[in-house]
Parts: sequence; C-alpha cells; structure tokens
Amino acid sequence: MDIKQAAKQDSLFINVFSLVIGILVAIAVLLFALSRAVAGRTQDVQVYDDSNYVASVTQRTAPFAREAIAGHNNAALAIQAPAGAGPSLALPVPANGKELFEQVCKTCHGPGLVGAPKAGDRTAWASAIAEGKPTLYQHALDGYTGKTGTMPPHGGRTDLPDALIKQGVDYMLSLVGH
Ligand code: HEC
Repeated sequence: MDIKQAAKQDSLFINVFSLVIGILVAIAVLLFALSRAVAGRTQDVQVYDDSNYVASVTQRTAPFAREAIAGHNNAALAIQAPAGAGPSLALPVPANGKELFEQVCKTCHGPGLVGAPKAGDRTAWASAIAEGKPTLYQHALDGYTGKTGTMPPHGGRTDLPDALIKQGVDYMLSLVGH
C-alpha cells in the first residue's frame, strides 16, 4: 500500500465516520423533540387534574373576603367553634348528690333564696318532708310552685339525669336528718 492509497482510505473513513455521527445527532434531536411533544400532551394534563394542584389553585383564587347578604342563605359564613373547644364550654357534670348540691342546688337552698327551704334547716324542711320522698323527687324533677316560691325543674339543670337530681334531694334530706 503506497502513501497515496493510504491517504485516500483515511479520507473515506473520515467521511463515513462524519456521516454516521451526523445521523446519530439527527436521531438524538428527533428523540428529544418527540419526547417534548409527548410530555406536553400527557404530563401537563395529569398535573392539572391533580387534586393537590386543584385545591391550591382554588385556595389562591378564592375571593379575599366573604360578606353576609340580606335575603340570601349565609349559612356558610356561620362562625364555627374551634375543634376541641366544646367540652370546656359545657357546664361541669357533678358526680354525686353532694357535688350536685354544691354546684346547683346551693344557689337557692344554701341561703334560702326566693323562698327555697334552707339546707339543714329542719323547720323549713318539715312541711316538705311530710309530703313524702316520692313527691319531693317528683317536685325536684318536674318543678313545683308551693307556698313560698317556685322550684325550677331539675333546679335549672335539665341536662342532668333524673337519678342525679334524686341523689341531690337525698343529700339535702340527709342534712336535716332524713
Ligand atoms: C332557682 C332556685 C332553686 C334552685 C337552683 C333549686 N331549688 Fe329546690 N326549691 C326552690 C324553691 C323556691 C323551693 C320552695 C318551693 C315551695 O315550697 O314553695 C324549692 C323546693 C325544693 C324541694 C321541696 C319541694 C317540696 O315539695 O316542698 C326540693 C326537694 C328541692 N327544692 C330540691 C332541689 C334540688 C335537688 C335542687 C338542685 C338540683 C334544687 N332544688 C335547686 C328553688 C330552687
């Protein structure tokens, strides 16, 4: 092989090599363009349907302030109690007759307010005791207007169970030796 032939073969190799590289680059560019086109038609659609994305857009585009309008249903504007605030707002529930007396009945029966027979005052309770326990239970549960004043049903705490109110009657009766 002389020098001339060798140079000819080299240039042939370079030409073929360049052609192959060129085709590979063209394929790479084509694949890139194809993947962009496919992604644009599929990925974006999935993003727009994503529930987190939809929620965040809804939140960002929601009206800044909401006003109650007369004659419209404004129920959605009602103020809701913060979670966990419920029980602390409720009145405490007494555990027994003594606690019930301390928390509820004492208000009137302690000082003998509005004509209530004073707790521990045997004379004041004498006429009541004469009526008998079932009547006293019934008066404490349903309410009762007697000679001296008005006993409200359950002493005003209609949220408390009947059995507890009876325990309260028992406790007050025990204070006058019954
Ligand atoms: C708002 C005041 C008030 C509170 C609170 C109250 N009472 Fe009375 N209670 C009265 C009055 C007034 C009478 C007297 C009614 C009468 O004989 O004229 C009365 C009478 C009674 C009597 C006697 C009823 C009768 O037949 O003579 C019982 C028993 C009684 N209360 C139980 C209770 C118990 C138990 C509680 C607590 C759960 C309670 N009361 C809380 C006002 C109250």
